[in-house]
Amino acid sequence: MSTCNETAAAMTMPGKGILAADESISTMSTRLEQVGVVPTAESRRDYRELLVTTADLAAGVSGVILCEETLGQVFSDGRPFPEAIRTLGILPGIKVDTGAKPCPGLPGETITEGLDGLPARLAGYAEAGAVFAKWRAVFTITEERPSWGAIAANSSALARYAAACQEADLVPIVEPEVLMSGEHSLERCAEVTASVHAAVRQQLRAMNVGLAGIVLKPNMVIEGEDHPVRATPEQVAEATVAVLRAWPAELAGVAFLSGGQEPERATANLAAMQSHNTPWPLTFSFGRALVSPALAAWHGDEGLVEAGQRALASHVAANANALRGRERLQPA
Ligand code: 13P
Repeated sequence: MSTCNETAAAMTMPGKGILAADESISTMSTRLEQVGVVPTAESRRDYRELLVTTADLAAGVSGVILCEETLGQVFSDGRPFPEAIRTLGILPGIKVDTGAKPCPGLPGETITEGLDGLPARLAGYAEAGAVFAKWRAVFTITEERPSWGAIAANSSALARYAAACQEADLVPIVEPEVLMSGEHSLERCAEVTASVHAAVRQQLRAMNVGLAGIVLKPNMVIEGEDHPVRATPEQVAEATVAVLRAWPAELAGVAFLSGGQEPERATANLAAMQSHNTPWPLTFSFGRALVSPALAAWHGDEGLVEAGQRALASHVAANANALRGRERLQPA
């Protein structure tokens, strides 16, 4: 088995998910300001150290996605983040795209950038201790969007990134996110997500990316946040798994993003997925659904570090518990 296949299997091992703590400096700074914390390199570091040193995090988390700033930072005891995280029994990863930028020729749509010089950057990240990477492409639903151009350009970039990662022995998390913003129905989200995934699969094939050495990080198939009818977890699970069935059994695993769903809804949807028998594991790679309650509980108060950690621990436990349905489905 190649290094990537082994790492991808470890990232999606039964009963565990991935913690996405890779907000960019500007996004993280905004979130800190929202809870009254002055955003500095040190406050961002303190917050990430709080998250990853949560007691027994490794019981429900296989890997943590960091941003470039955190990858180069040290714990308060002086150990570099990647090394300290490895010691905790968790795999360190790194977000390598440089963000979704306005796409020339496609008003209102974005192209995720970061391909220039990527192989050299990946070598540096691997040297620093990262074993996997993440790249997020973003699609917005309207009546006319996403356009074919946005789907083609972003899928091509995702595949070029994934191929570069595998050459550097880093597992690529391939994240095509169809956003929840808008009034669209669950059916429309299903249609768009299926089209995006078809293009991504085609481009991954064109770039000879091995599916056993990637982790797919999709949105759940869900109605737009301004749609009048809210789908049940069973409806979300059924629609999501129906779209995912187009992925070959060889795929290492699927780790969902939470996409701005309330934490409890994301967990309920994840639990409902587990009653579907699929050839690949279905787990979580949540950002906001895991960390927002922790950030709110801590809000920069040194005396509340443990309260923040308890909030994270309870959401990790709830999501790890949601994965248990699978054990009943697929007895050893
Ligand atoms: P959310 O779970 O908050 O959507 O974040 C996941 C992520 O990694 C976005 O790129």
